[in-house]
Amino acid sequence: MIGKDLSEAVRFLQNGEVVGIPTETVYGLAANALDTDAVIKIFQAKNRPSFDPLIVHIGDPSDLDKYVSYIPPKAQGLINAFWPGPLTLVLPKRDLIPDLVTSGLSHVAVRMPVHPMTRQLLGMLDFPLAAPSANPFGYISPTEASHVEAQLGKKVPYILDGGPSTVGVESTIVGFENDQPVVLRFGGIPVEEIEKVVGKTEIRTQGGDNPQAPGQLSSHYASTTPLILTEDIDKTISEHPGKSVILLTHSPVEDSHGLDRIDLSGDGSLESIAKNLFRVMRKTDELGYDLILVKPVAEKGLGRAINDRLYRAGQPK
Ligand code: TXA
Ligand code: MG
Repeated sequence: MIGKDLSEAVRFLQNGEVVGIPTETVYGLAANALDTDAVIKIFQAKNRPSFDPLIVHIGDPSDLDKYVSYIPPKAQGLINAFWPGPLTLVLPKRDLIPDLVTSGLSHVAVRMPVHPMTRQLLGMLDFPLAAPSANPFGYISPTEASHVEAQLGKKVPYILDGGPSTVGVESTIVGFENDQPVVLRFGGIPVEEIEKVVGKTEIRTQGGDNPQAPGQLSSHYASTTPLILTEDIDKTISEHPGKSVILLTHSPVEDSHGLDRIDLSGDGSLESIAKNLFRVMRKTDELGYDLILVKPVAEKGLGRAINDRLYRAGQPK
């Protein structure tokens, strides 16, 4: 059921159930992060492999000390600059955090969301919320309550409706090595903004068999319709004769190459492309074309997160 009743959400969460929650990035599928039995239900509902760890959401920066044993100075700098907001930090966990949440890793991913409804919810709870994006594993992330209802409604007793997510791509994830930040996933806080606070930062977003980020599987955020991220639309069209093709354009002024098209943004800004990305991918997926084509956006600011999601959406499953 979809609703705006915070006390209803609190009741389900206190009873060890999962609840869909709005965040500024994407909707999450939340449960009590300190209760292994509740967290198991997240993995079951999403059909998520247990080697893919979850992000723990807290309501106040001062809660962080309860769940992590060490905060590097540069992590504190990032917290001061970007919390609450779309930034996740991976830090050494305390025993209180169940191993299931971190997939057995010694570190836990933590973030403090800025979405007002979820902040209010966290304020009403005496435990943090483990929450991955509320989509079936590998599929496009939800940015509206109705997306969660459509795909996980049968498995989730309650979905809090906080309106469309304003950022539209997941949080940026930053880990630390010898106290130095390492970007593990591009997301809602651009790397350029992070570097303004902590200086030049290493980027390690490719994952694969990188043990630090087991969740960075190459196929992710994927539509059912195959999607190709390409610089050369005409060449890609010629390589797929006889296919019905739809183009995702960055703005209405982009050349349509004679194809049917859907715009990712009215104004062409990276902010608005990010905000619309998953909703438009979902909508396009439902139209029944054989193939979705899209060009990469500029590899700067939010563009890196957008290209990353498009690239992973296009990887073979
Ligand atoms: O914006 C977001 O971060 C959203 C909203 C709901 O908060 N959540 C989200 O969660 O994107 P999810 O589960 O879709 O992505 C979590 C990813 C994992 O796949 C993994 O790459 C990384 O976070 N992660 C989590 N715990 C980690 C850990 N202990 N070490 C390294 N990476 C970790
Ligand atoms: Mg996800």
